Amino acid sequence: MKKRKLAAAVAGIFFCLLASGGAVSAETLLERGKYLMNGIVACGNCHTPGSLLGRPERGREMAGGHKWDEPPFTTYASNITPDKGTGIGNWTDEQLFTSLREGKRPDGSIIGPPMSGELYARISDRDVRAMIAYLRQVKPLKNFVPRGTYRIPLPPAWGPKKSVPEVSRKDKVKYGEYLAGPLGHCVECHTPMVKGRRDYKNQFGAGGFLLDGPWGKAYSANITPDPETGLGKWSDRQIKVAITTGYRANGDKMNPPMGYHFYENISREDLDAIVAYLRSLKPIKKPRKVRFTPHKK
Ligand code: HEC
Ligand code: HEC
Repeated sequence: MKKRKLAAAVAGIFFCLLASGGAVSAETLLERGKYLMNGIVACGNCHTPGSLLGRPERGREMAGGHKWDEPPFTTYASNITPDKGTGIGNWTDEQLFTSLREGKRPDGSIIGPPMSGELYARISDRDVRAMIAYLRQVKPLKNFVPRGTYRIPLPPAWGPKKSVPEVSRKDKVKYGEYLAGPLGHCVECHTPMVKGRRDYKNQFGAGGFLLDGPWGKAYSANITPDPETGLGKWSDRQIKVAITTGYRANGDKMNPPMGYHFYENISREDLDAIVAYLRSLKPIKKPRKVRFTPHKK
């Protein structure tokens, strides 16, 4: 009996080493970039045409063009392929770095919403470098996209010019916070705005934020652990299935524009961390208003 237990424990430790330790250290910068971009970070959910409608167009990765026309701004997802004329082909790595760390273009102008300047400014240096390595090897595509017009003031920068260290994966909840915050901005879509500001203070993760676009009108869901109106009664598996397949616990197909087709590539360990983090949020009772209204032509 004793022996069996010991053997199981040893096997368990060995498995843990295989599952986490090994993968992290062996990963190259480009591999990390590929994993992030095709998974939790999902820049292509906005920058690849078609994604927000549920299906990224083939052969058009990062070509941009999606338009937002809302009271505070009229803007377009930029072409971020390495095309020299219409993309970011002429930007240096340092300039690309600054565009994420501070939200500033090489000409000093500020990249506006709905890109998550504030959260992206907190992505670790290494992960920003990894994403740049990925962007460099995307196919260059010629596609002119206009700059946005903003009717709201933009800040002088989204983040301070400073180095951001890696977040340890040892503390699941902390790493989950990094995944659902800076990397994945789940918390941004899932927190409503009050008077033009994200109400992180009172409604963190409580949903009800309206996402209005050519996909229709969708309100984000309550992802706090409240048992009645949030995810409190969902199993870990049900939460992971919703994130990665777009099917809710009750079997319903979920609406756009959440990036399910990217999230399907999130690793098991990262999904575990995201769920652990969601379970740690303060439960907030807040029913959803309306689920979805299809777009009227
Ligand atoms: C929610 C949608 C959205 C997501 C997600 C998003 N972006 Fe953007 N991005 C935009 C929009 C819209 C603009 C144009 C803003 C403007 O006109 O000021 C933009 C502009 C940019 C620019 C400026 C390009 C130029 O030529 O001016 C860069 C660089 C960029 N994005 C990179 C990224 C990267 C890298 C990611 C992932 C980490 C990302 N974006 C995720 C919407 C998004
Ligand atoms: C672009 C905005 C956006 C982002 C980013 C986003 N979500 Fe969502 N999410 C939504 C919307 C909108 C819904 C509701 C969809 C519907 O009506 O079917 C939703 C629904 C959900 C649901 C289903 C809850 C329910 O009660 O039906 C879960 C779970 C969820 N999101 C978790 C996440 C997690 C975790 C992340 C980050 C990895 C994330 N979301 C990122 C917009 C977003």
